[in-house]
Amino acid sequence: MNILLAGGAGYIGSHTAVSLLDAGHDVIIADNFANSSPVAVERVREVSGKPVTCYRADVCDKAAMERIFQENNIDCIVHFAALKGVGESVEIPVAYYRNNIDTTLTLLECMAKFGVRNMVFSSSATVYGDENPIPYAETMRRGSSSHPYGWTKIFMEQIFEDAAKADPNLSVVLLRYFNPIGAHPSGRMGEDPRGVPNNLMPYISQVAVGRREKLTVFGGDYPTPDGTCRRDYLHVMDLAEGHLEAVEYAAAHKGAEAFNLGTGTPYSVLEIIRAFETATGVSIPYAIGDRRAGDLPEFWADASKAERVLCWTAKRDLTEMCRDTWNWQSHNPKGYEE
Ligand code: UD1
Repeated sequence: MNILLAGGAGYIGSHTAVSLLDAGHDVIIADNFANSSPVAVERVREVSGKPVTCYRADVCDKAAMERIFQENNIDCIVHFAALKGVGESVEIPVAYYRNNIDTTLTLLECMAKFGVRNMVFSSSATVYGDENPIPYAETMRRGSSSHPYGWTKIFMEQIFEDAAKADPNLSVVLLRYFNPIGAHPSGRMGEDPRGVPNNLMPYISQVAVGRREKLTVFGGDYPTPDGTCRRDYLHVMDLAEGHLEAVEYAAAHKGAEAFNLGTGTPYSVLEIIRAFETATGVSIPYAIGDRRAGDLPEFWADASKAERVLCWTAKRDLTEMCRDTWNWQSHNPKGYEE
């Protein structure tokens, strides 16, 4: 298949590109590099040994996107083109709604115009909100969010469901990611956040490589076994392979359907620190600080639907997640822009 990765130069998009190329698909990337690097695309070519067509284009730019659809016979789209900073979304909510909703509508309009029927959407466990019991299952209703970023994911899912209801030819797979960490085992690709990392694993790996002094653990008094928050961390290559299954599922089914992509096993912040130290031999100085606004004590996936329907399970364990993160970070201390 010819697969368009909208926002495909980012952390999850670039790893997904490698999985799709390895499976024999052709990949076209459209990215404005607002939060990613063109070097990531070069590394996708290097690691896969395959050509990749890449456009520097804003997915909100309808004329630019129409040209891409015209020049390529696209079979399926994977939509990663979104802003993803929780804290930033509280500061600039309008920019978040504008970008994330606009990319989604532009892609849907292009699909209608060019007869493209299959879409895989990069959603998030955040859509379960804080009302649902854990583990989260796809049978639960979407919840409400404490931040605009989360609302954009909830709205985008709703838009896709409405579009699929109105057009019986449309097929949309909503992939609800839990917490992706890790890197490609080659050490040539990995997570490279701009500025101070918001997420746990890139912060830990930047402490390990000496770019940050110490980690602040956000809260030590949660109602969890060791007082720190628990999350369902999965290896980014497992997540990437989930997209491969989703693309094939979208080609064979109609309508909108959601799948959790997680392991089903939670780890606490302290367990992640210890696992990283054991896997790498590098110690991580940390201090327990205040809770971060909006953090839930714990959540993880009921991962049974993806296993039953997509024949997908996460195969790589926490040691591998930590080892591959360190292999990437230690060989690329400054990320892609060295
Ligand atoms: C966050 C978002 C989620 C988004 C995901 C990917 C919230 C509430 N959720 O998930 O919607 O899809 O990022 O961008 O923000 N932690 C520390 N110290 C740090 C960083 C994190 O202790 O410096 C802790 C957090 O409190 C949390 C855990 O590590 O318990 C994981 O945090 P993070 O990697 O930011 O992911 P989420 O908050 O689960």
